[in-house]
Amino acid sequence: MDKLVIEGGVRLEGEVAISGAKNAALPILCASLLTRDPLTVENVPHLRDVTTMLNLLGQMGVAISVDEKLGVELKSAEIRQAVAPYELVKTMRASVLTLGPLLARCGEARVSLPGGCAIGLRPVDQHIKGLQAMGATISIEQGDMIARAGRLKGARICTDLVTVTGTENLMMAATLADGVTTIENAAREPEVVDLANCLIAMGARIDGAGTDVIRIEGVERLHGARHRVMPDRIETGTFLAAAAATRGDVRLEHTRPDILESVLDKLRECGAHIETGADWIHLKMNGHLNAANARTAPYPAFPTDMQAQFMALNTVAAGTSLITETIFENRFMHVQELVRLGADIEFEGNTAVVKGVPHLEGAIVMATDLRASAGLVLGGLIAQGRTTIERVYHLDRGYERIEEKLSRLGAKIDRVR
Ligand code: EPU
Repeated sequence: MDKLVIEGGVRLEGEVAISGAKNAALPILCASLLTRDPLTVENVPHLRDVTTMLNLLGQMGVAISVDEKLGVELKSAEIRQAVAPYELVKTMRASVLTLGPLLARCGEARVSLPGGCAIGLRPVDQHIKGLQAMGATISIEQGDMIARAGRLKGARICTDLVTVTGTENLMMAATLADGVTTIENAAREPEVVDLANCLIAMGARIDGAGTDVIRIEGVERLHGARHRVMPDRIETGTFLAAAAATRGDVRLEHTRPDILESVLDKLRECGAHIETGADWIHLKMNGHLNAANARTAPYPAFPTDMQAQFMALNTVAAGTSLITETIFENRFMHVQELVRLGADIEFEGNTAVVKGVPHLEGAIVMATDLRASAGLVLGGLIAQGRTTIERVYHLDRGYERIEEKLSRLGAKIDRVR
């Protein structure tokens, strides 16, 4: 199993290009199931989760090729089997994003129920409830969701909580439904907007994406389109936090500051000097690194996917910070690993109390999920001496060539096989 070995204490400096967003690419690839025509998706990041999704779609009968501009072309002329099996769903929960499109296109789908997850229970009851409101019958057989429907019917759906993939699944299903669907309490994440823009390019009629009420008027059919995936705001935030943590000076290209304001505000509170343009962010850390509290919540608040990285930054900040996780009940797996590096962190319910220490020291640590791993990479960059991160396959799910990009910024980081 691959490991990352980091010799920490190096100030990050230089420029790096941000990749396409994993959490926008995954639903957009699934949108290809909604039409017989080719959908070409550009700026698809090269990640393990993307490969898993392409394998899953390929098994369903989607023809996949790469065009001369490196766009991934997906053609779902015929869907051979509307099935997402447990073997794939258990490695990637986002496989559940095939449920809505399959049901809308084929009138049936068998999608394995994702089980629990390292970061929390993560049920999919809101996806099911919404599709049922649109006329689907859904039963659970042998661990799979078996969904059936004639043509789905437009409905008013109010989700009990804000769910990103739930909103995306229901929005995709509604594009081909008979009549108007409104999704209330919808997720406002930029990735939902990116998916909506792709669907609109395919002929869907969608209003309100990016607000908490999305209105979708179903159409008979969707057509092919070409869509460029938005930049990854979490990759962006991770590199910014790494730059701040190492007192660095880093410019990120091909990104979007407008969708990262909560994170930029927090980094400024920590003492970072940040300048932005339409598609770049420049962070420079000159003076003191100050502790700053953060509370995760749905967009536009501070993202749960940045919590571990922000905590790592705070381990060596001046003062004490309170980091509260409100989205997932078990997303603190990185804490004990950061403590192994010398961090001073205690819990009070869903809040971690982080007392800044003068420095961290390298150790062997274990990655447990994607963003926890990113937090440990930051820990390793901060720590004096050598940090070895085991189980980096978690990191490969969501960060494109992370060690290469960090090396370019001067980090001493190697992958050991
Ligand atoms: N929830 C339910 N019922 C549902 C759906 C969600 O109770 O039917 C709960 C979840 O258990 C959680 C909360 O609602 O407590 C929010 O979960 P959400 O559904 O929004 O999460 P998700 O759609 O499964 C996406 C991202 C995650 C990101 C979360 C929150 C994708 C593919 N995944 O997950 O990304 O953390 O939104 O922003 O878009 C990651 O990239 O590392 C990652 C985990």
